[in-house]
Amino acid sequence: MQVVKTVDEIRKMVKSWRKEGLSVGLVPTMGFLHEGHKSLILRAAAENDRVVVSDFVNPTQFGPGEDLESYPRDINRDAALCEEAGASVIFNPEPSEMYAPDFSTYVNMENLSKGLCGKTRPIHFRGVCTVVSKLFNIVSPDRAYFGQKDAQQLAIIRRMVRDLNIDIEIVGCPIIRESDGLAKSSRNTYLNPEERQAALCLSRAVKLGEKMAAEGEKDADRIVSEMISLIQAEPLAKIDYVEAVNGVTIEPVHKIEGTVLVAMAVYIGKTRLIDNFIIE
Ligand code: PAJ
Repeated sequence: MQVVKTVDEIRKMVKSWRKEGLSVGLVPTMGFLHEGHKSLILRAAAENDRVVVSDFVNPTQFGPGEDLESYPRDINRDAALCEEAGASVIFNPEPSEMYAPDFSTYVNMENLSKGLCGKTRPIHFRGVCTVVSKLFNIVSPDRAYFGQKDAQQLAIIRRMVRDLNIDIEIVGCPIIRESDGLAKSSRNTYLNPEERQAALCLSRAVKLGEKMAAEGEKDADRIVSEMISLIQAEPLAKIDYVEAVNGVTIEPVHKIEGTVLVAMAVYIGKTRLIDNFIIE
């Protein structure tokens, strides 16, 4: 698997594909890839002639005191997974390649970034929108692939592409889980065995909420409060938020109508995990 480190090189590569009339898919990641990322790469490989996987731990989306330094990294392992999944190349720039010392232009999303994860991570989505815009400009793909696991991020990227007239199709992909239900995440590696067990309260809460919705519960607050009780029964869990919001605008809802996103962030020990489900 070829690993490209510079913007110039990846641009040249994509240009040569374009000359041959080939389509290009982009899968933006922060590396330490798992089956969740792999599902995005497989889908991109099925729908495009060439696939670029970006592998970049983006400093601008980490707040002070967050896990930028300790975020797991393993480019060799990532390269093997990309090869297996049918990627064409990995774009793995150094932070200095992406951000000049006097970098000063940001893409700032209003509204959709304020709720849910935006409350505890106020600069996070500005960093995400900025780096994703840069990747879109560098790679100019036909399609870009994002996971439903980060539901707020996906809604924000869709809105950014609409607002800024970016001519790239955004493809949302379902959440991939461990066999016991825990949503796959690079941050699961932070969990010790006891915490790993406790982390199951997130997917159990998702299952409970999904079941209530399937049985016809129309009161979003009741669904959320049952989910909160389930999570609170786990001593190692500390809730950041459990909320029902409109799936497109990320505004709070109290009734189940239209597309409702029920999303949560829960600390298991020091590790902050997220999970969610959609009610159509
Ligand atoms: P990262 O957390 O590495 O995730 C990269 C992509 O993989 C995201 O679109 C995410 O939603 C998706 N993903 C992660 N776990 C998944 C799972 N269990 N099932 C399905 N998809 C999953 O999200 C980011 O990186 C960054 O914010 C990024 C968009 C790359 C910008 O830096």
